[in-house]
Amino acid sequence: MSLKENIDISRLPNHIAIIMDGNGRWAKEKGEDRLYGHLHGVESVRNIVEGAAEIGIKYLTLYAFSTENWDRPKNEVSGLMELLVDTIKNEVPTLNKNNIKLHVIGDTDMLPDAAKHELTEAIKETSKNTGLNLIMALSYSSRWEITEAAKQIATDAKKGSLVVDDIDQDTIKQYLTTKSFPDPELMIRTSGEFRISNFLLYQLAYAEFYFTNTLWPDFRKENLFEAILDYQSRERRFGKTGEQVKNKDQAG
Ligand code: IPE
Ligand code: IPE
Ligand code: MG
Repeated sequence: MSLKENIDISRLPNHIAIIMDGNGRWAKEKGEDRLYGHLHGVESVRNIVEGAAEIGIKYLTLYAFSTENWDRPKNEVSGLMELLVDTIKNEVPTLNKNNIKLHVIGDTDMLPDAAKHELTEAIKETSKNTGLNLIMALSYSSRWEITEAAKQIATDAKKGSLVVDDIDQDTIKQYLTTKSFPDPELMIRTSGEFRISNFLLYQLAYAEFYFTNTLWPDFRKENLFEAILDYQSRERRFGKTGEQVKNKDQAG
């Protein structure tokens, strides 16, 4: 049986988040420039988006560029931005063909005008699609997001549209860029790094983490299916005891 056939479709994670890491090292191993790695990373994005849509994942968040990545060498940043513009432009027909709706989270004001333009167009052109929600984290960092949320909460409280005593966990969620999406149940990071690098700090509170040594340009559907199978073998306890979780059906 193939990996895909082993997946229990009734227990799929609703939302998978991926830190796509290792493009630079992949290129270096081949004696190539880092941008060559990023170029091949796009192939993996295509393949993973296709794989996720194929099995019926509802939300897929891909960490493509962090706030901190702006501090990389100028030629790498501009190369990545060009790649972003070209990719979005070229992928819209495929997104539509596969019923995929594009979203973006992050400080997009920082992006070059051409990228902002292509993104706005792509979001508009895919807005009626009802299949997979593809969320690109671009110029994103969780501390940026939480800081923005805190500012907005303070502003609304001062204005009186938000009552301080009414603030609860759900209020906080409503002020995050991910307010329309459920929290990820599964977070995957490639390239053998065991950290979350400022990614979805609030939203990943109870996510299952899956780390693999595979570098992002080598990551394919089969690797995604393997991660999902691993996720399905875990017991998610949410603070309860294993016995409580096992007896949930009987005990209610
Ligand atoms: C991930 O690969 C892509 C981005 C962060 C844009 P890296 O570029 O971080 O690759 P490594 O970690 O240097 O190998
Ligand atoms: C995290 O990767 C950001 C993205 C994958 C977009 P990095 O390669 O920037 O992370 P660090 O710096 O190694 O933690
Ligand atoms: Mg990296």
